[in-house]
Amino acid sequence: MDKTLKISKIKDGTVIDHIAAGKALKVLAILGIDESNSISIGIRVTSGKLAYKDVIKIENKFLEKLELDKIALIANEATISIIKNYEIIEKFKLDMPQVFKGIVKCANQNCITNAGEPVKSEFMTVNADPLTIKCVYCKKEMSGEEIINNI
Ligand code: CTP
Ligand code: ZN
Repeated sequence: MDKTLKISKIKDGTVIDHIAAGKALKVLAILGIDESNSISIGIRVTSGKLAYKDVIKIENKFLEKLELDKIALIANEATISIIKNYEIIEKFKLDMPQVFKGIVKCANQNCITNAGEPVKSEFMTVNADPLTIKCVYCKKEMSGEEIINNI
């Protein structure tokens, strides 16, 4: 008897695979997925390459650049597969963007971007792994949970 339970393949949509175990819910939260999509989530599933991984499959959803950049901030290790009619038509690793505009709120309360002025937040990547980003305006550096909590 086959005792493994696999997450079904999807017909059309996006698979976010090889997410470090435990991060899938954060990824879903920042994507702001609502009730209109069918979603399968695997948390701490065994994987050949990684001991454990998380995986998210979102039917009929094709991610935009801004959404991919947000995922890169949380799970840069992820692999994205785009599925059309059951076939993988595109599969890629995420690029770590060098600049993030309007995605992360600066943790410095005195930063111009938090002053109610029409200035969008903007960060440069200073280090990709572990990720450290730096506010272009006040030079505040942010990493780890501080980034995730301010998306
Ligand atoms: N997938 C899916 N629906 C499809 C086709 C693929 O949900 N119609 C999923 C697979 O389950 C897998 C991912 O898309 O999570 C990538 O598919 P594939 O490259 O076939 O899987 P692997 O070879 O296991 O990928 P990798 O080597 O990258 O782990
Ligand atoms: Zn700032």
